[in-house]
Amino acid sequence: MTASGPRPLDLLRAAKRVRKNSYSPYSGYKVAAALITDQGQVVAGVNVENASYGGTICAERTAIFAAVTEGMKHLCGLLVLTDAKDPWPPCGFCRQVIAEFADPSCPVWLANTKKGILIETTLGELLPGQFGPKQLKSRS
Ligand code: THU
Repeated sequence: MTASGPRPLDLLRAAKRVRKNSYSPYSGYKVAAALITDQGQVVAGVNVENASYGGTICAERTAIFAAVTEGMKHLCGLLVLTDAKDPWPPCGFCRQVIAEFADPSCPVWLANTKKGILIETTLGELLPGQFGPKQLKSRS
């Protein structure tokens, strides 16, 4: 495995470290996400809720926007962590945002606090037929 290859256990550790910081007074669901960039940097984020509800941002997007802020251009793995028994896949908005910065083959791991990684899937499985930056470059 290369330095920038997927390291799901590193992502699990990073997500576990920040999950307590989730700001989720309305849903009560503490969600954390962690991603790895093609440079091997691990960046984590949590869901941040808002009294307007609509202003809420998911953990995945918090992590992605933090990574972009640090100069990340491409991610090559992402993990979502909750304490729910069943895996929590990224919501539709997050899938679209992940697609902006990742290939369809990008692994996505769904984990919980008790059992660790429950499922490994890919962005392409979660968001087939995606609309992305490619389309905007393909004007005929
Ligand atoms: N949430 C995430 O952080 N990631 C997801 O993929 C699904 C939902 C958050 C948003 C909200 O704070 C709470 O979970 C309930 O929807």
